[in-house]
Amino acid sequence: VKRVAVLTGGGDAPGLNAVIRAIVKTATREHDIEVIGFRDGFKGVMEEKYFQLTEAEVSGILHRGGTILGTTNRDNPFKYQVSPGVFEDRSKTCIEIINSKADALIVIGGDGSLSIAYELSKRGLKVVGCPKTIDNDLAVGKAQTFGFETAYAFATEALDRLHSTAEAHHRVIVLEVMGRYAGHIALYSGVAGGADVILIPEIPFSYEKIVNKLRDRLSKNRRFSLVVVAEGARPSDGDMVVQKLVEESTDPIRLGGIGNVVAQQLEKLTGIESRVTVLGHLQRGGSPTPFDRILATRYGVAAIDLAAAGQFDNVVSLEGENIVPVPLSEVAKGIRNVNVEGDLVKAARKIGISFGD
Ligand code: F6P
Repeated sequence: VKRVAVLTGGGDAPGLNAVIRAIVKTATREHDIEVIGFRDGFKGVMEEKYFQLTEAEVSGILHRGGTILGTTNRDNPFKYQVSPGVFEDRSKTCIEIINSKADALIVIGGDGSLSIAYELSKRGLKVVGCPKTIDNDLAVGKAQTFGFETAYAFATEALDRLHSTAEAHHRVIVLEVMGRYAGHIALYSGVAGGADVILIPEIPFSYEKIVNKLRDRLSKNRRFSLVVVAEGARPSDGDMVVQKLVEESTDPIRLGGIGNVVAQQLEKLTGIESRVTVLGHLQRGGSPTPFDRILATRYGVAAIDLAAAGQFDNVVSLEGENIVPVPLSEVAKGIRNVNVEGDLVKAARKIGISFGD
């Protein structure tokens, strides 16, 4: 292996630059391998947009959020848009382009980009994957994804700040965090930030149960509450009807995601003044935490080491104390959800946190 290409795909996550930096430094110093970077994920491959990644190019980027390579969740080579509304399988071209520029490809991505990488590897491309997503929901080995800790640390800080204002005004404050399919960010930040209620996609919730929890707090003279809700959380079937009514009557200025609906419904049911904060992309921006910088650096080193050793079709994964290769085929398992019978959910319940069930 003399030349390796790298791309970052899907939503960005703090730590992407730390991975790129580690790949380039290790490739140069340890393996005498050249590195090129495709711009904007697979879009850059299809458009043949790439540049040489030297140590000078990656200097000073360790702490920076985003990605110097750019990213996009569009332009899947298997469904490539050739004209408006017309999509074709251009995977063969994609592989030819990559093979003409490099001996192997490192894909730093989440479920979407790694699934594409897996399909390309089945057609002969030499690939190494590196697990990224703030959602921590990749079902490859036990991989903790980099970016996750930064995201939930930020959500925890938000809860700390909301705590004092909720208490001062005797309000219910709902914090909506990211997590379309999995509630890891909500669970971790909720426990770390002292939330009273945590709503996650894995546990359908009932408004009645949340109201009981808020009333119980009131009876103990706790006149404020913090509710963390993952954007993918939904009420159980019966409560869906109630929610639809709320959604239909939503004041357009306050219209947002599930956080808004929950806040309005709780205010209506309890009479306690409620507010919502939607954290949105603030969770994805900014500087990675020291843990994420270290994890990303280790992933970058391990990824280029695997490529140099010819151990393709693997994803690097933190298992216990070590980074180990896990078969790329495991992406086919889909999303890793919160284990609702797991230790952290149980601990949260034991200290009185309600999941609305
Ligand atoms: O997968 C990461 C993630 O941040 C999700 O938590 C969120 O639902 C989604 O990306 C948002 O994507 P976009 O930035 O494309 O709106």
